Formats: sequence, C-alpha cells, structure tokens
Amino acid sequence: GSEAHVEDFDFSFEGPFGSYDTNQLQRGLQIYTEICAGCHGLKYVSFRNLHDEGGPALPEDQMRAYAEFYEVFDETLFDGEGDFRPATPADRFPESNLASAPDLSLMAKARAGFHGPYGTGINQFLKGMGGAEYIASLLNGYAEPPACAPDDFDGYYNTVFTAGGYPEDCLDANGKHTYPGSWIAMAPPLYDGAAEFADGHANDVESMSADVAAFLMWTAEPKLNARKQAGLTGVIFLVVLSVLLYLTNKRLWAPHK
Ligand code: HEM
Repeated sequence: GSEAHVEDFDFSFEGPFGSYDTNQLQRGLQIYTEICAGCHGLKYVSFRNLHDEGGPALPEDQMRAYAEFYEVFDETLFDGEGDFRPATPADRFPESNLASAPDLSLMAKARAGFHGPYGTGINQFLKGMGGAEYIASLLNGYAEPPACAPDDFDGYYNTVFTAGGYPEDCLDANGKHTYPGSWIAMAPPLYDGAAEFADGHANDVESMSADVAAFLMWTAEPKLNARKQAGLTGVIFLVVLSVLLYLTNKRLWAPHK
C-alpha cells in the first residue's frame, strides 16, 4: 500500500503507569550528542535539565562537565561586544547547525505516528500519538527508491517520511501515491555500531533509533513521569471520594426510606 508504516515500538513511558527509562535516555543523549547534534539543535532544552529526576538524571558533576563541553556566545562579555565562553548549566543547547535541519526539542510532539482509521483518531486512542514511534520508524525507514522512480536521482528515499518530493513516475492514473514515503534531505544518520555504549548495550540501528527517539520524547515532554503520577493520584483520590460520597448519601437518606 502507499501508507507510510510507522512501527508500534514498545516504549517504557507508554500507558498509565509508564515512565522514562533513565539508562535509555542516557544512551539517547549520547547518540544525539555524537550524531544528531552535527546538524540539529535542541534550543529549548537547558543543560541543567539533564540532571533532573525522571530525565537522563546525569549526576550533577557530569551534567556540568557536559555543559562546559559547549561554547556559547555571551553578549555581556568583553565590554558589551560579546565573546565566547564555556556553557553553564543555565545555558541551552545550541540551535541547528544546518538551516535545513529542524530543531528537535519538540519534534516528538510535532509529529504523530498514528492516524485514522478514516480520520477518527481511534488508533491514537489505542496506541498513543506515536511521536516517538514516528522518529524511531523514520530512522529505520530508509530504503532503495521504488523501482518506478527515475534511477538517475541521487538522493535518499525514506518510506516513513512523507513531506519530501515524490517521484512523479510513481503516481497512478488518479495522481495517488503507489508507494509509501518520499525523498528526504537527511542522509541515513545511523548505522549498526555508530555509537558505543559504556555498558555494552546493543547498538544496532533499531535499538539506537528507539533510544534516541525516547530521548527526544523526554526533551519534548520532560514532565511526563510527574504528570502520570499526579494523574494516578488524582484517580485514586476520586475513587475514594466517590465511595465516601456514596456512603454519605446512603446515611443522609436512610431515615426517609
Ligand atoms: C530532518 C532526526 C541526524 C539532517 C529530521 C527529522 C527528524 C530528524 C525527526 C524531521 C523529519 C520530519 O520533518 O518529519 C534526526 C536524528 C538524528 C539526525 C534523531 C541522529 C540520529 C541528522 C544529521 C543530519 C541531519 C547528522 C545532517 C548530516 C537533517 C535534515 C532534515 C532532517 C537536512 C530535513 C529533511 C527534509 O526535510 O527532507 N531529522 N536527525 N539529521 N535532518 Fe535529521
């Protein structure tokens, strides 16, 4: 079919009791730093948040050392002329290096992995919005261009990305896509073994895609753990309240029955 296929990854943060997996977020941060940051930015994320509970939870000294690894331009230095200095925990990650590479801070919330059926959104109700699934599937979604595409085109084809140019030869008589995906301007960023983890964790494309997607879910929704906990507390509170109100109601009306 011509529908882009977004795989339903089994992320730890899904469902009412889900939470981020600290080790996975740390691997995702490493992949982001070593690979994605060459082109993309994370301009809404502050370095100090890397130390947060429920996030990558880097020890404070590691978070500080991580920040110092970046240089920022500070307008207040050098008598107001500005100068470069090492970043501090209060600074944010740099913006994208490459104008055509979008900032990734909120990408996991800006894209949906699941749609339909028939515009009802039931798939999102059952599987979640799928922003992280979209990113992970995109990183896994590189393929040879379809046979119908002209073979003199030297670009990359991705079966999950739909916003790029589509080979006209692959349209059917009604102008409908006969093949999923489109051209994409991003070269496949991951390959097996692209990053090496200190604990020897699996580093094939599929697991690294999931790790970096989980990390980008955290950058887009850093308070997910706290939100789910508050929601659960709220539900328990309402259940208890309902029981008490039911008993109160019984008791109030008992003399009149
Ligand atoms: C687009 C993720 C590495 C260049 C994107 C998009 C995502 C993404 C989610 C947006 C797709 C959309 O709009 O739906 C990542 C991740 C990386 C990575 C997680 C590391 C694992 C890189 C690198 C480069 C790059 C190293 C440059 C060499 C681009 C460009 C686009 C893009 C140019 C725009 C594509 C287009 O609109 O055709 N990336 N990226 N990315 N990325 Fe990356």
